[in-house]
Order: sequence, then structure tokens, then C-alpha cells
Amino acid sequence: MSQITTFEINEPLDMHLHLRDGEMLKLVGPLTSNTFSGALIMPNLVPPVTTKEAMLSYKERIKEACSGDDFEPYLTLFFKDDYSYEFLEDVKDDIIAIKLYPAGITTNSENGVSSMNIETLRPTLESMSKLGIPLCIHGETNGFVMDREKEFMPIYESIASNFPDLKIIMEHITTKDAVELLDKHENLHATVTLHHLLITLDDVAGGMLQPHLFCKPIAKRNEDKEALLNAALKAHPKLMFGSDSAPHPKHKKECCGCAAGVFTSPIILQVLTELFEENGALDNLNAFVSLNAQRIYNKKPIKKTIKLVKKDFIVPAIYEAHGENVVPMYAGEKLAWSIEN
Ligand code: DOR
Ligand code: ZN
Repeated sequence: MSQITTFEINEPLDMHLHLRDGEMLKLVGPLTSNTFSGALIMPNLVPPVTTKEAMLSYKERIKEACSGDDFEPYLTLFFKDDYSYEFLEDVKDDIIAIKLYPAGITTNSENGVSSMNIETLRPTLESMSKLGIPLCIHGETNGFVMDREKEFMPIYESIASNFPDLKIIMEHITTKDAVELLDKHENLHATVTLHHLLITLDDVAGGMLQPHLFCKPIAKRNEDKEALLNAALKAHPKLMFGSDSAPHPKHKKECCGCAAGVFTSPIILQVLTELFEENGALDNLNAFVSLNAQRIYNKKPIKKTIKLVKKDFIVPAIYEAHGENVVPMYAGEKLAWSIEN
């Protein structure tokens, strides 16, 4: 069999992305918009995006930062349990989803919900369900760090069965349990990151501590990684790619009290191509990185074809511009695939 040396990805979509704001947005925005057709933008700014004005002006700043590229940012709002039906009706055509964070569970989530009690959430969830606004959830309890996602499973189940018409996305799943839950409720979907397909806790903390691999949810066991990878490689129809690429400046990662987040934007398509190729699953990559999301979110993205070639790519040690900097995953390492310019 002849060796594959080129591969095309059409309309790549990143359905979970942190672009931040200000100078960091100017640095990282183009590192997604140059290769992706669209991305779902997380609202955990300081303060979080909770009004129509804040959301629309953030969208403008993103478009400005990415102005050289054909790229569609899909905006989200930060979940609050007191959004009125009228407010949600007014904003619904400008957002793709609403993101729910339990308070304090991760970066900039202090204003998240303090109780996951279904009755507290009911009014907003009922409105969202009626209006057809999808709910993205950071599904972790504040229990023992390795069990946080597993402990959240009953909460996912309770929301899914109480609101059967609400489209729910379990964000950045990291466990076998979450993969299995996908098939139990019709209205549950999920995103998975690149890094959770590649690493376990051993890669983060098994040897010298690797701050650039530290994220929430923390990478789990090998059996979890295998379950996630199998689901991605077969392009499980309820699973989408969402990088959770989360830039923090180098000094906030290489320090005492390291911020959570792995920055993957500039390496995603190259590494996914290598991963799917080595597992004989390239035929499923377009579904995993675009078609599943198009179907689940009912979106027609901007046309964009990215051509990958089997040629070494040395990942930059750091990306710097506008007075900001960020260290990518695999900094300084050699990848087998490059993006053709
Ligand atoms: O590692 C993470 N970083 N997980 C999240 O959920 C948030 C993100 C960030 O915003 O830095
Ligand atoms: Zn995130």
C-alpha cells in the first residue's frame, strides 16, 4: 500500500475554544482563524460575558483580531440562573449556546452557579429548552480531583432526563464513564480535546511536573484515554472536537500556583492527522473535526479546505506578539505533518 503524503480537512471546527481578550486575543486569535473555519468561543472572561452588549462587542474584537481570515466565531453566554425568558429570546440568534460552570471549578469561573440543584437551574433551563438554546457544561464536582467528572455523571443524567428537549454538551470529557453516558441519553453530546486523546496523569505528574499539560479536568487513566480515543477515531456521532485550547502567559504556567490550561491551537490539525493516520482512521477525521459539529449544532460553516502534507513541522518554543506570550503543547518538538501554506 502506498504511503499517504497529503490529506485534506474541510471546514475544521473547534467547538470549545478560549480566545481571551485584549493583547492575548490578538496573539492567539489568528492561530485558530488561520486554519479553522469556525470556533465556539468560551465566555469565561473577567468579568464573564453575560449581556448581549458584552457578547456582541466581544464578537467584534474577535473578528478584528482574526480579520485576515475567513473565520466565524460562535459566541456563548456565561450561564446565570436568573436569565429571563425575554432576555434569552432576544439574544438567541446571536449565540450558539450557553456555558454553565460550577462556581470556582476552573479558571475565571468564580461567578458560576453555586448550586447544581435542578430546581435552582430550572427556570433558565426551561427557557433554553423552549428556545432551542444548547447548554454546554463544565461537568466537575469539587470532590477528589480524579473523581470530579465521574461524580458529575448523575447531574448530567438528571438534567438530561428533566429536560429531554434541551441539547446538552458535556464539555471536554476525560473519562470512560462519560463516553458510555453518551449512548444512554439522546440529548447528551460531548466535546473532547486533543490533549485528552494523547496524555494521562502520568504525563502531567508521573515524572518531572509538566505545567504546560496541567488543565481542568485533569488528564486521567490510560483506560479513560483509550475510551476517548476509540470514540474519536470512529467519529462517534455524538462526539465533537473541542480543543479547550486555553492560553496563559508563560509566567503564569511556569511558577508556583500554575494556571490550568493547555495551549494547542497551532498544532491541532497536524497532530490529529498523525493520530488518525497511525490508527488507520483518516477516513473519519473530517466527521470528528467538522461534520459531527455541523450536524449537532445545525451550522453551515464557511468553506475552507486545509491541506496537510507529510513534512516535518518543528513546533515553536513560544508564540510572542503584542507584548504577550504563550507556550504551546509540544513546544520545540518535531511533528510528522505540516499545514501547506
Ligand atoms: O484547563 C482549563 N483551562 N480548563 C478550563 O475549564 C478553563 C481553561 C481556561 O480558561 O484557562
Ligand atoms: Zn474550556
